[in-house]
Amino acid sequence: MKSLKSEIILKGLKTKTFGRSLLCLEKVSSTNDVILKLAEEGCSEGTVVISESQTKGRGRQGRHWTSVTGKSLAFSVLLRPFLKADELPEITLAAAVAVAKTMELFRVRPQIKWPNDLLLGGQKVCGILTEMGPKKDKMPSVVLGIGINLNQSTKDFPKELRQTATSFYRFSGHKIDRVRFFQRLMHHLEETYQWVVERRFSKVLSEWRKRSVTLNQQVKVSQGHHAFHGQVVDLDVKGALLVRNDLGMIERVTSGDVDILTLKKGKRPS
Ligand code: BTN
Repeated sequence: MKSLKSEIILKGLKTKTFGRSLLCLEKVSSTNDVILKLAEEGCSEGTVVISESQTKGRGRQGRHWTSVTGKSLAFSVLLRPFLKADELPEITLAAAVAVAKTMELFRVRPQIKWPNDLLLGGQKVCGILTEMGPKKDKMPSVVLGIGINLNQSTKDFPKELRQTATSFYRFSGHKIDRVRFFQRLMHHLEETYQWVVERRFSKVLSEWRKRSVTLNQQVKVSQGHHAFHGQVVDLDVKGALLVRNDLGMIERVTSGDVDILTLKKGKRPS
């Protein structure tokens, strides 16, 4: 089983900043925690921490994220964007587009479930967790944490996740070279992040819409104690979900869980 080595990754990396400063570790609590610490010490934008395993890998809404040594990818990127707090979700959507574009290079076409899940065959293959980091010279920092299931087989998933989670290999029947995948992903992440910081978020939105499994669906939105049903009509200019509730009013959703009640299969153009 090949572990990830920075000198090998750096050889084929075609980015300006993303992944140029790269730390490949075997075991950490969470790559987001490691990079938060590096951010406090002033590390530069685009610094990446990858780890083969995480003892406290975390997902949205306090969920746990599991990776498998040698088979998945779990990493965090430090960003220092000139963005207002309400613009930060744009980074999550941009990252989802970047992961989708990378998978497409390897001939699978994932769908994006708002805001941050990538699905293959309706099952989750990637999750993204964006967290605020410390400020440096009044500039906020943002940690972009991404977990991707690449070469796990069915038995690598706990029984309770086998219906809802999948990997690139489980879906396609092909193993993937994690180094090549990661190098190309860095390129796409840098590209879509530039769209955000250069105020070209409309480009992210149009790429996101093409791959969305959420648009037009009947959904249940859960936000803490508040939940409602409705139909997703669109994303707004900041990437919030616009849902027409049962009373016909449009609700703007910026956080929470969105469960799709009517998943229309085969919706994506080929
Ligand atoms: C989710 O789907 O809820 C988000 C999952 C994010 C997991 C990644 S793995 C790398 C980084 N470190 C973490 O602790 N979490 C993110």
